[in-house]
Amino acid sequence: MKKYLVIGNPVDHSLSPKLHNYWIEQNKLKASYEKKLLHEEGLKQIINEIEEDKISGINITVPFKKSIIPFLSELTPIAKKTESVNTVYKKNNKIVGDNTDVGGFKKALENTKYNVRGQKAFILGAGGVVPSIILGLKEMGISEITVSNRTKEKSKALKKKYPDLNLVNWGETVSCDIIINATSLGLKDEEIRVDFAKIGKNKLFYDVVYNPAKTKFLLNAKKFDHIVENGLMMFVHQARLAFKIWHGVEPSVDDNIIKTLEND
Ligand code: ATR
Repeated sequence: MKKYLVIGNPVDHSLSPKLHNYWIEQNKLKASYEKKLLHEEGLKQIINEIEEDKISGINITVPFKKSIIPFLSELTPIAKKTESVNTVYKKNNKIVGDNTDVGGFKKALENTKYNVRGQKAFILGAGGVVPSIILGLKEMGISEITVSNRTKEKSKALKKKYPDLNLVNWGETVSCDIIINATSLGLKDEEIRVDFAKIGKNKLFYDVVYNPAKTKFLLNAKKFDHIVENGLMMFVHQARLAFKIWHGVEPSVDDNIIKTLEND
């Protein structure tokens, strides 16, 4: 029986076990997937367990996507570029860190049918998921990205990695085609102040948050007739890509599992 884990802190809210175990059962694999609450000191031990084949793979969630890196022997090009790892496995006796958040985000955006090429994006937040969103947008041909974060030092650090970013102060709205909430605001029903007059019509509002499914950010955007999308499909597709890496099987993203996750 192969063992897989998602590690994080907090990790209780994670829907990864439900999704991976659904696919494991559907594909009749001999495997299990659980969640594990960790502290920074526990990272080394977990990687040791992969080395010893006690664990076959792990997903990493907040806040360890960067801090896991020193414990790994190899990074894929995307993990290296973003300095963010969400999927770990052993290959040729090396512990490899990969990033499927970029692919998950791209797939979710593709599904909205909103054409990203040549457009301007405005990202709220500069936390762990933002380097993956920026790389995804760039790979999809975005022309300009502006970032706004409450703590200016963090957006400045992002600009070191991606020098062509524009930075604006928290609370400011810029004219754009795609506006992305990548903060944790909305998880507890908080509102984000957006100056809708600056945004125009028929734009894409994307929220990384998916629980609740309809954040105030998206509900307000809907009132102004914008296209809205929450983070559920990004979550599902990052998991699909991790599953494929680990098991060599392409799992199906069917209505049944999406409805189960939506109702959780
Ligand atoms: P981390 O910052 O540790 O990577 P994260 O969950 O990935 O954690 O990111 C949280 C994001 O939500 C950050 O952009 C954070 O802004 P700060 O960098 O200023 O902390 C943002 N955020 C969380 N609570 C917020 C609030 N009350 N107002 C504005 N932004 C908030």
